[in-house]
Amino acid sequence: MSDLLRLDKILSLAGITRTAARKIIAAGRVTVGDTVQRDPGFKTRITDVRVDGELPGAETEIHLMLNKPAGVITATEDKKLPTVVDLLPEKYQNRKIGPVGRLDRDVTGLVILTTDGEMAHRLISPRHKAEKRYRAICEGSLTQADADAFAAGIELSDFTALPAKLEILSSGESESTADVILTEGKFHQVKRMFIAIGHPLKSLSRLQIGGVTLDPALKEGEFRPLTESEIQNLRSY
Ligand code: URA
Repeated sequence: MSDLLRLDKILSLAGITRTAARKIIAAGRVTVGDTVQRDPGFKTRITDVRVDGELPGAETEIHLMLNKPAGVITATEDKKLPTVVDLLPEKYQNRKIGPVGRLDRDVTGLVILTTDGEMAHRLISPRHKAEKRYRAICEGSLTQADADAFAAGIELSDFTALPAKLEILSSGESESTADVILTEGKFHQVKRMFIAIGHPLKSLSRLQIGGVTLDPALKEGEFRPLTESEIQNLRSY
């Protein structure tokens, strides 16, 4: 009978990762009809399966914003270090959710996590021109010449950065603060651009991706689901 599928396959179709599916089944949290079923190969109909008494994957897509603290890596799993996914409750960790682009370990701020891999891909591709805004604190005094260099496209050892905006917010002798707006995100890109203009960074934080701004109510390490209008905005890229 073709409408019978393995339990692990059914959980996978509901967006639950293979590792999580195996654990959930072994823990006796999956029922088929009235019976707890611990065999991942057990074949049944999708409509008969419940996880913790509920239909699996009732929420189809998940989109969250997280205020990433320093020390956490932007990956779904790591053997040694805490990841952005580790900061989420189990119900999200069990889903195939991933970050949109990466922030370095020491960089803080906005990380969007989504189950929509295609949307994530569009948001990081320079072709779709979703701007990312970063707040940078750097050594020394920034001037208009630095903003002009960003606008012209800074030459790095292995590529030339696309034209970027540098909005200088304050410029002191020992330290300056500026917002940087880019549509690409190569490895250590912002740090390397500041080194190239002779103003190494002291700190970097991401404030915005596309039209979605980091919610000031979120403390570092906290997250919240995106609103409908934030999701619509991200889908528009
Ligand atoms: N640029 C960097 O150098 N690091 C980041 O994490 C993001 C942008």
